[in-house]
Amino acid sequence: MWTFLAALIALISSGAVWLNKVDVPLPPPGQYHTIRNIDPASVDLTWPAMEGPYAPNEVLRKAHRLFDNVIQSSETVAVSPGGNLTLLDKYGYVYEAEPASKVPNAVFPNEWALDLPALDYLGPGRPLGFHYDAQGNLIVCDSLKGLIMREAGTGRLVVLTSRVSPDDPTAPGSPLAYTNDLDIARGEGGAIYFSDSQAVPVGLSPDQGPFYDTFRGFMQGLYTGVPSGRLLRYDPASRRTEVLASGIFFANGVALSADESFVTVVETTRRRVLRHWLKGPKAGTTDVLIERLPGFPDGISLASDGNFWVALVVPMNKLPVVLQYKLVRVILAYLPPWARPPLPKWGGVLKISPTGEPLQLLMDPDGSKIAYVSSIVEHGGRLYFGNVKENYGDALLPTCASPGHQLPLLHKLYGGVRRVVGLDLSRGMVDLALREIEAYEREQRLQGGGSVAGLEAVVTDASCLNALAPAAAVF
Ligand SMILES: *[C@@H]1O[C@H](CO)[C@@H](O)[C@H](O)[C@H]1NC(C)=O
Repeated sequence: MWTFLAALIALISSGAVWLNKVDVPLPPPGQYHTIRNIDPASVDLTWPAMEGPYAPNEVLRKAHRLFDNVIQSSETVAVSPGGNLTLLDKYGYVYEAEPASKVPNAVFPNEWALDLPALDYLGPGRPLGFHYDAQGNLIVCDSLKGLIMREAGTGRLVVLTSRVSPDDPTAPGSPLAYTNDLDIARGEGGAIYFSDSQAVPVGLSPDQGPFYDTFRGFMQGLYTGVPSGRLLRYDPASRRTEVLASGIFFANGVALSADESFVTVVETTRRRVLRHWLKGPKAGTTDVLIERLPGFPDGISLASDGNFWVALVVPMNKLPVVLQYKLVRVILAYLPPWARPPLPKWGGVLKISPTGEPLQLLMDPDGSKIAYVSSIVEHGGRLYFGNVKENYGDALLPTCASPGHQLPLLHKLYGGVRRVVGLDLSRGMVDLALREIEAYEREQRLQGGGSVAGLEAVVTDASCLNALAPAAAVF
């Protein structure tokens, strides 16, 4: 018996030693990519304490689902030049919803009327991030086709780029395998910054459709252990596509800063956000904006107050610990989809400052209202969330700027902040509010303005949300 066990252990360990020396290919469509040993330095297994700005809360449960069971996993939303909401589902259909003013008696949250059937079809592929450009063209990152455009007026589809330009010094002529997200500069002739997540392409999933399963593609790239994501720039005038940064372990959301001095790109697998400098002394270099996030980041966007919203699609979990072992990755890569471990259901949205400080995490702890948030779009005092997994398109919530941001507004509306009572007391939010209230009081005194005496309580996240619908605020 013991001899047998010893022989078995010897066999497994020699198998593992042998496995470490050979490169095992991925199953199709990734057969030209091999599963390699992971550089331990490339995996960060530590995560932050869930306190301060990361204190657990249920703010996202106040959100409302839009188009439940109608829109299948629109990774984000865009606001059209005419003020409609545009959504692209996982099959490539284009939907539009009209605002409340044109719909009789519609109130929040039913203030959008979805037009059915779909307005258009972008052809086989999987649209992920999209934005309207200054001319009203819809620019889409299609994970299969590359960076595409649905032309304003005509609806004509154009592939803007599917390869890096042949004169690019880093990766001349290399194909885009997994185009994911973009942002468009207001300056620079409308340059488009976008991500190519990894070199492993997206495959057709036989389930539910079938459709091009970008999540499965992501897992396949993860199993290889090779960071092959890139940040790129497409110039509409010269039609050149250049690589700005490479070696990113799943390059995901892209957002320009308010002053366009840098562009951020999310690095999902390493749970961090990178910053590529466009202006100033560091122009052309890339550094880390924020790391050790409490979840795996997906989309990023500019908030109305100059901060950034980061979607945390899945909470931090133990999976990266086991994925260090090549044997585990080889087994997982060849398991049928139904035999793979399920993803924890959770909703997480994080606000960070332009210098990378975490400000506030909004959560739905068990994902009972919204889960797997992939993007955030701030529009008209509300937040709209994209979703890559569930069958509601998006959910929404009144915008929650930092509490200090709301104080002048409250002051004006109520002639002084006396007492603001919120429902969700998160410690980080209270501390932040206290600091900002002190600063505001100081400023009022310096300016000789009225005192804010009588202040009894502080703004919490819930009352901060209510502040935008003043009738609902408790004073
Ligand atoms: C908004 O969407 C509706 C429904 O698809 C459409 O009829 C209308 O023309 C759109 N409006 C604008 C300004 O794009």
